[in-house]
Amino acid sequence: MHRILVGTTNPGDVVLDPFFGTGTTGAVARMLGRSYIGIERESAYIRVAERRLKATRPLDRAALEVTASRRSEPRIPFGQLIERGLLRPGEQLHSMNERHTARVRADGTLVGHDVTGSIHQVGAALEGAPSCNGWTYWCIRREGKMVSIDIFRQQIRAEMAERPN
Ligand SMILES: C[S@@+](CC[C@H](N)C(=O)[O-])C[C@H]1O[C@@H](n2cnc3c(N)ncnc32)[C@H](O)[C@@H]1O
Repeated sequence: MHRILVGTTNPGDVVLDPFFGTGTTGAVARMLGRSYIGIERESAYIRVAERRLKATRPLDRAALEVTASRRSEPRIPFGQLIERGLLRPGEQLHSMNERHTARVRADGTLVGHDVTGSIHQVGAALEGAPSCNGWTYWCIRREGKMVSIDIFRQQIRAEMAERPN
């Protein structure tokens, strides 16, 4: 529910749950600075929901601003870096900790030691971690320096902001 509300609403929006039960939707909405309307027919559930909502504290505004600005940034698929010629198929990426490498493939996936998949999947597999943010994990060597691939994503976002269409 947290992820759904962060991904589909902004602070201040109103969320309607016509099958409110014990109020999970309302509690998450309140925490995230959204308003909510709940409809529920069972009085026992209504009492539980009311107690729960009273005990739920909204996050502070600074935390919500981070949530909002992340949501408003356009999603950039890794493959777009290749389509735009910022990375070439076959180029080698290096992990931020310089322990692992993987090669870029034409379809926007990576191939590493015994593993293929998205930038996130390959990073997680190589680190033995449950998840990994590939954007901040992978770097590429440019003019002798290691550059985070996230720089390219930011470059594309900046271009999109200049030319929205
Ligand atoms: C699966 S529960 C919802 C659980 C809720 N999402 C939560 O996490 O707390 C569905 C709820 O809808 C309520 N409900 C079903 N039909 C309803 C109706 N016609 N009007 C109001 N509430 C209704 C039920 O009493 C039940 O509490």
